[in-house]
Amino acid sequence: MRTQVGIIGAGPAGLLLAHLLRLRGIESVVLETRSREEIEATLRAGVLEQGTVDLLNESGVGERMRREGMRHEGVILRFDGRNHRIALSELTGGRSITVYAQHEVIRDLVKARLEAGGQILFGVKDVSLLDLDTQLPKLRFHDKEGAVREIDCDYIAGCDGFHGVSRPSIPSRMRREYTRVYPFGWFGILVEAPPATEELIYAYHERGFALVSTRSPKIQRLYLQCNPNDQAGNWPDTRIWEELHGRLAGGDGWRLTEGRIFQKGVIAMRSFVTEPMRYGRLFLAGDAAHIVPPTGAKGLNLAVADVRVLAGALVGFYASARTDLLDQYSGTALRRVWRAEHFSWWMTSMLHHFHDESPFHHRLQLSQLHYVTGSRAAATTLAENYVGLPFEET
Ligand code: FAD
Ligand code: PHB
Repeated sequence: MRTQVGIIGAGPAGLLLAHLLRLRGIESVVLETRSREEIEATLRAGVLEQGTVDLLNESGVGERMRREGMRHEGVILRFDGRNHRIALSELTGGRSITVYAQHEVIRDLVKARLEAGGQILFGVKDVSLLDLDTQLPKLRFHDKEGAVREIDCDYIAGCDGFHGVSRPSIPSRMRREYTRVYPFGWFGILVEAPPATEELIYAYHERGFALVSTRSPKIQRLYLQCNPNDQAGNWPDTRIWEELHGRLAGGDGWRLTEGRIFQKGVIAMRSFVTEPMRYGRLFLAGDAAHIVPPTGAKGLNLAVADVRVLAGALVGFYASARTDLLDQYSGTALRRVWRAEHFSWWMTSMLHHFHDESPFHHRLQLSQLHYVTGSRAAATTLAENYVGLPFEET
């Protein structure tokens, strides 16, 4: 078998890349270890930046997002027992975020790809990347019937997430990795309840961080800072509500609406970057190359920003034999990656309780929160990063 671009992973990065390439007449094959049902049911991100929304709309896959997604023009930081609003749109010339679940984006992209006759090979195993430093790289794998198959490619896109095979296929002497593991995780739940707030609430409290997000008018998404090795079994419903109410308590009378909890899980928190995001004819995109803690809501959006740059570079190659854009891919992508790494680390540091925290550190965090919500300049810094900097500015 032969294709122009071999894509590993049917997450947001791989699927959107395949879609953007097809729009410009470039063929690709997507290899995915899981089934279509699994990828369409995996719950992850929820916040789309303005640039992500624009790209999905411009490329013709935004129809359901426009109908079902929820546009938010502000976000709340809650501390000292009350809400402090950051007016995202007012501070950024009208930009906003849209709450629309990642698995809905995945469903829209899979549908668009299959309707266009594109190939996604689900349920593959043992993918290996061969001859990456030659002109004819290959992908070898077992298809879902167990047969060994090979695809000759011009280029390979490693979009297989943090635990994929692409990054480890780059010789370790050719990459440099930067990591920070946080001493806490997030305990996430899904709840059957109406929204208790019109905008997301990021709450700082001595008992730990809490986040009130949403999925639909009937389903809410809530998170609590927890021990990174914690397990869902340690969190009976009564303990979850007690912690959430404790961390979100205030003198303003606002109270979270309870409901039936139907999903629980623990999420690890890390920052990670590998450099460069290229080796020979392999290009890494999305979580395969970098991870951010979820506090800045940047992971999915960075994956989208990477493949936007990569698709442009591949179009340059196929349309006019340019290789300069491919050569610049890693540098261009990494500038935005490091901006998001900093923002996510900064939001995480400002909003979480660190177990070794001294009263001095706690006072510094409160001072930062007051500054960020009180100064227009500081609020603008948060707002422009949160809604996503325009692509050309990173
Ligand atoms: P993935 O989504 O991980 O996709 C990789 C795909 O590759 C998977 O389908 C996997 O099965 C497949 N794969 C793996 N190995 C192989 C292999 N060997 N061969 C073939 N296929 C393989 N980001 C945001 O922007 N906003 C948020 O609000 C947000 N919230 C989050 C909340 C949670 C709870 C979590 C866990 C993450 C959140 N993120 C958020 C991060 C976001 O979900 C990820 O950054 C995003 O999924 C990255 O997309 P990706 O396509 O790079 O990788
Ligand atoms: C979510 O809704 O899942 C969500 C929202 C904001 C974040 C992270 C996750 O920062």
